[in-house]
Amino acid sequence: MIPTHISIIMDGNGRWAELRSKERVYGHKAGVESVRDCCEYAAKRGVKYLSLFAFSQENWSRPEEEVNALMELMAASIVKEVHLFYDNQIRLKVIGDLSKLDKDLVSKIEKIEDTTKDFSNLTVIIMLSYSGKWDLKQAAERYAIDYSDAISKGETPEPLTEELFASYLSTYGIPDPDLLIRTSGEQRISNYMLWQCAYTEFYFTETLWPDFRKEQFEEAIENFSKRERRYGKIK
Ligand code: FPP
Repeated sequence: MIPTHISIIMDGNGRWAELRSKERVYGHKAGVESVRDCCEYAAKRGVKYLSLFAFSQENWSRPEEEVNALMELMAASIVKEVHLFYDNQIRLKVIGDLSKLDKDLVSKIEKIEDTTKDFSNLTVIIMLSYSGKWDLKQAAERYAIDYSDAISKGETPEPLTEELFASYLSTYGIPDPDLLIRTSGEQRISNYMLWQCAYTEFYFTETLWPDFRKEQFEEAIENFSKRERRYGKIK
């Protein structure tokens, strides 16, 4: 079975560059090629959502030079690859704490989000300046505001259910990931979609992100198709 939503923690760009005695940004640039390959392949294979952890809240504490280079690379790539979205009928969505990003980058993103909003072949979600704890915190804050607004108007606040809480998360409307891939041999979730990955299948591979292309992606999908998902129940 093809997963509806595949999410990827793209890891190992720096090591890939170091192995070639190059600057880390060289690895990030090669990583963009993998992003393109995987978007095209996901569209072709009938995956409906592909989310990519491009920059975490924690990544802001990397050296300024690397942060700036990554931001410039992402802005340039999103604009340069815009034909990828049109050619494959891909909708682009960007999720994260965009208040920390350069305004020019945000407006470029919003423009592409708007022009691709009716494409329904595949939705590519770039998780940018995102972290799982940030998402839970902003959801709790927004619920608290709605709760106290209701109280102040003399209304009965909507009781908190899992469904209601999920509607405050930044990923609302996107089904939870079926498969989470992490490259480069690390086996941890690194403050990613903490709520959304409750029943996600994990796939870890030693392959460094710039080497993760269609063949490796297919291998991960193949591996997923053999899993038995029980969601805590018995068979
Ligand atoms: C992790 O490798 C990778 C990142 C922090 C950045 C990922 C971003 C890209 C591949 C560019 C994405 C572009 C678009 C358009 C979405 P690392 O630097 O942590 O590698 P290391 O663990 O080997 O040091």
